[in-house]
Amino acid sequence: MGAGGHYKPHGFGCENLVGEHAPAPKGGSMSRIVYVNGKYVPEEQGSVSIFDRGFLFADGVYEVTAIVHGRLIDYDPHMERLARSLAEISMAWPCSKAELRRMHEELISRNRLDQGWVYMQVTRGAADRDFKFPKNNGSTLIAFTQVKNLLDNPDAITGVKVVTVPDLRWKRRDIKSVMLLAPVLGKQQAYEKGGFEGWMVEDGKVTEGTSSNAYIVKNNTVVTRPLSTSILAGVTRRSLFRLAQEHGIAIEERPFTPEEAYEADEAFLTSATNFVLPIVDIDGRRIGGGQPGPVTRKLRSIYLEEALA
Ligand code: PDD
Repeated sequence: MGAGGHYKPHGFGCENLVGEHAPAPKGGSMSRIVYVNGKYVPEEQGSVSIFDRGFLFADGVYEVTAIVHGRLIDYDPHMERLARSLAEISMAWPCSKAELRRMHEELISRNRLDQGWVYMQVTRGAADRDFKFPKNNGSTLIAFTQVKNLLDNPDAITGVKVVTVPDLRWKRRDIKSVMLLAPVLGKQQAYEKGGFEGWMVEDGKVTEGTSSNAYIVKNNTVVTRPLSTSILAGVTRRSLFRLAQEHGIAIEERPFTPEEAYEADEAFLTSATNFVLPIVDIDGRRIGGGQPGPVTRKLRSIYLEEALA
């Protein structure tokens, strides 16, 4: 495309979302089948335009849904959150909800995924670079699977370390935007200090992890920040609240400081990619004697019980 050229949208239809037949991965091959704009292709062939607004502006949103024994975990709340993210940035659904679900299931089946997750991303499509929304532009929808042993995660037995980092993000963290540079920098900073996760701090209080929600436990009460535009409404958080209530575990929603966390009996994080994960060290201070605590272990086990049910 030359200067002044006009990008032509590719014009895939939602009806093409399923039924495309690309060859399955060869036996023993590491190649996945990924989904790109209506087609299932080997990952080496999965590509999008350099004019894609997700690439140029991070003009897109995403979801990550856990898979246990080939089954989608908490799929409906993930799609409810996707609907909200799309609405908040005035982006249309890329296809029908039923097609999107079929696409998730098709990817699981084509990749014979037992445990891991499906990542899906929708952007405002490819167009000549211009900040304002393109007119009559199709969206870009991509998705892929990633393998992870979610059930027998060694980190869940030992617990992990977290490191506090400044929260450098924008003011609409309730939208699950692909604009993830601040969390990338935060996670890397934590990693370089020996942390598994970074707990982001704003105005002296922990907001959340770079890719998870943050909790402490004091006197058998779980403390976590209330929902607002300052954090993402975790789907795992939502399930955890329901399960905690069913099992008589108290939750107090309020912001907490890193200093309060250092003195906590227990700490943990939640996300679709880790479920409930114990934290045993924050900024080099041992939490709960350096062992996963009983409330955290109970919450993880009831979460897994439900996922396996
Ligand atoms: N991240 N907070 C942030 C900033 C997150 O990025 C995530 C999830 C969560 C937990 O949300 P959920 O329980 O719905 O996964 C909280 C995903 C897993 C990711 O970006 O990989």
